[in-house]
Amino acid sequence: MTLPIAVLISGSGSNLQALIHRIEQGVLDARIQVVVSNIPGVKGLERAKKHGIHTCVVPHAEYPSRQAHDRAVIDTLHSFGVQAVCLAGYMRLISPDFVQAFPDKILNIHPSLLPGFPGLHAQKQAVDYGVCLSGATVHFVDQELDHGPVIIQAAVPVGPDLGEKEAAQRILALEHRIYPQAVQWLAKGRLHIEQGRVHLLSPQEVTVLASSEPPGLISPGLDPGF
Ligand code: GAR
Repeated sequence: MTLPIAVLISGSGSNLQALIHRIEQGVLDARIQVVVSNIPGVKGLERAKKHGIHTCVVPHAEYPSRQAHDRAVIDTLHSFGVQAVCLAGYMRLISPDFVQAFPDKILNIHPSLLPGFPGLHAQKQAVDYGVCLSGATVHFVDQELDHGPVIIQAAVPVGPDLGEKEAAQRILALEHRIYPQAVQWLAKGRLHIEQGRVHLLSPQEVTVLASSEPPGLISPGLDPGF
């Protein structure tokens, strides 16, 4: 099954591009129904159009409140039949209504090893702090900023000689590798959240959990059809 997703952006859209690339390669079982930006004219919208993907601009400045803006975005996503949402450089805190509209189906990527350095300029925050390792995190989105159950992380060394720009480039290269992987796990139903933690199920466990049989894991796995 192909997961119908939306990608929400506010800027360059290089993570969007990485998702498109993996879908076109046939290794990511998702279909981007629509790319939504809260800012008009950003490069990510052009990237989407080049690949024949629907785009929609919902400018937050034109709405009286965060809730009203999110309502318009949610309505757009529903009208495109979206089942999961990927925040990819979407620089907006989303409201509880938004989180509840797609329970356990909203992913975000952030350029730090969360829970360290949430918020803006995460790479600069990490370099300024003097950490030895920084990186990127893909996580489920909850009501807090850059917060929620962690799906996958990648780390890079960031020594004292490395500037913010170089650190950001290294991290971005890793973001492009881990985000498509996380979305593929979501598409395959392999991400199971229990007590705020993500468990990556094996394909065999997914089959068992998704069946109409009483829940239970069978090891070693059954042959197909049993
Ligand atoms: C990425 O580095 C992403 O992790 C970050 O914005 C950048 C978007 O780049 N997101 C956040 O900081 C979320 N708090 P892109 O538009 O080229 O994908």
